[in-house]
Amino acid sequence: MARTLDQVEMDKIVSLCKRRGFIFQSSEIYGGLASTYDYGPLGIELKRNIRDAWWRRFIQYRDDMVGIESAILMHPQVWVASGHSDTFTDPLVECKACHHRFRQDNLTYLGEVGLLIGSNTNLDIVKGSTLPMASENQYDVVLIRGLGLTPPDASTVLVAARLIGPDFHTEKTFAEVGAVIDLPKDERVLFVGRKLEREESDYSVAFQIPLSLETATITLVFQNASGAVWPMVIEVGTSDGRLQMCSSKEVTARHFNLMLKTFLGPVEDTASQVYLRPETAQGIFVNFQNVLTATRKRLPFGIGQIGKSFRNEITTGNFTFRTREFEQMEIEFFVKPGTDEEWHQKWVDDFMQWFIDLGVREEKLRLRPHAQRELSHYSKATSDIEYSFSWGWGELMGIANRTDFDLKAHTRHSGIRLDYFDDEVHDPDRKHYAPYVVEPALGVDRALLVFLFDAYDEEIIEGDTRVVLHLHSAIAPIKVAVLPLSRNERLVPKAREVYDLVRSRFTTQYDDAQSIGRRYRRQDEIGTPLAVTVDFQTLDEDNAVTIRDRDTMEQVRVPISELMDTLTERLDR
Ligand code: GAP
Repeated sequence: MARTLDQVEMDKIVSLCKRRGFIFQSSEIYGGLASTYDYGPLGIELKRNIRDAWWRRFIQYRDDMVGIESAILMHPQVWVASGHSDTFTDPLVECKACHHRFRQDNLTYLGEVGLLIGSNTNLDIVKGSTLPMASENQYDVVLIRGLGLTPPDASTVLVAARLIGPDFHTEKTFAEVGAVIDLPKDERVLFVGRKLEREESDYSVAFQIPLSLETATITLVFQNASGAVWPMVIEVGTSDGRLQMCSSKEVTARHFNLMLKTFLGPVEDTASQVYLRPETAQGIFVNFQNVLTATRKRLPFGIGQIGKSFRNEITTGNFTFRTREFEQMEIEFFVKPGTDEEWHQKWVDDFMQWFIDLGVREEKLRLRPHAQRELSHYSKATSDIEYSFSWGWGELMGIANRTDFDLKAHTRHSGIRLDYFDDEVHDPDRKHYAPYVVEPALGVDRALLVFLFDAYDEEIIEGDTRVVLHLHSAIAPIKVAVLPLSRNERLVPKAREVYDLVRSRFTTQYDDAQSIGRRYRRQDEIGTPLAVTVDFQTLDEDNAVTIRDRDTMEQVRVPISELMDTLTERLDR
């Protein structure tokens, strides 16, 4: 469906999510816990619908798939065998000046970084990591400028500049940086949007930050023609009355395992250390033989599961895009070696089509095969399906060819053979083998964010802005709203009767507060596809109701006797 707005900014999504009860900051009354979120009444309906849509399409509607639900806590040897104990690490660097920690791969040093400090009219350039800071009154803003940021090759361009602090969150892409950007008053950042210039071989960018900020992170993201990305992180903060700025120059590096530890047993010293799983996949691999024996499935077949995963991510951000606790929907699809590449392609196509069928605009999706150096330790080939967010292309999901890596590794470590007996193979020495695995892995939270981003639109109607979520009816949190024309005592009993009828089959909301126009707008904003209005004509003339369509705003009159069939037909489209 045609949109007025091609791209929505993250701050609008964050604000809608809080205002209407999709997503809240976790532990908000205590100041929040970094990068953890809670789903509100509408968010949890949307999440549940996404999970259900995935489960129906990829488990229940296929003869070659079954589902399981494995425990979050697993035997520690699982992670030794899978390679996560050794290789699931990020190179962590600590800045000697401010002691902040970053991922090293986010810290490509591109050149000297300088600070401009003062007001707009009176600026001094100071290079180096520490600046004397006078009283807050004297300097109300700091401009930080990347000077001499030399790109790695000629095709490299600056695609995004991002500024994140504790109380605010904003991102602007390259195209927007040229303009002055006004943020809502409650944002504590002024993103001045100085023109992002390419002066001979250099780039520069300026931000304006109130000095009352304790810390802020600035990320400049460069991309070259082949799609490779170089982010550069600059940490800015105040400490002991001195303003500090750190660039990647002054760091020490070490490896940091992303798995979150916990302890089983009453006394921490003697208890056994276990991990909160970083992926749901291993719960499937270790159950391979159990499922095979119980279901007598033949190759090719797959096992899917949905569940929480945890990673002690060093760099989080972009709202729910990368969090430390998240939910995954993963499939391990077991195939005969030699057919793995064909199945890899099939799964890529199936998932691409699934997003399109659920309403995501095709032009906002792309496939990005991983370069050799990006591949995980278990993968022969991985392709990401990416979505075009307001800050650029971002990974929505990955489809990996895991070969026989995991089944063989668990066979070696457990001493239990995880293989398949193939009665179609004649050579007796080759009848037993570990199948290859194709793994489509998707985050529920990541998918939900994409569905929100893609559905959001703002239309101007008679001078007013209509915010509308064009969510597909299969995932919309509320399918039908029942709206009496007013709270008139004659209308209410009939409206409640219609409400009871409709909610027997669909997730329905009854709303009688404020004018009918405002109620339509409220439902549009949360993506309710259909609204049913009960009016005096219903009582006095035709025992019929009006159905209003969210996307076209067209209204049709339908007898109550035909209401359920009509709703079913329209919602199943
Ligand atoms: N078993 C393979 C695996 O876990 P991955 O690419 O690390 O692969 C798969 O994760 C998907 O899980 C990602 O494409 C993304 O949708 C989601 N995901 C991964 N890390 C996440 C995080 N920190 N926050 C939210 N979603 C995440």
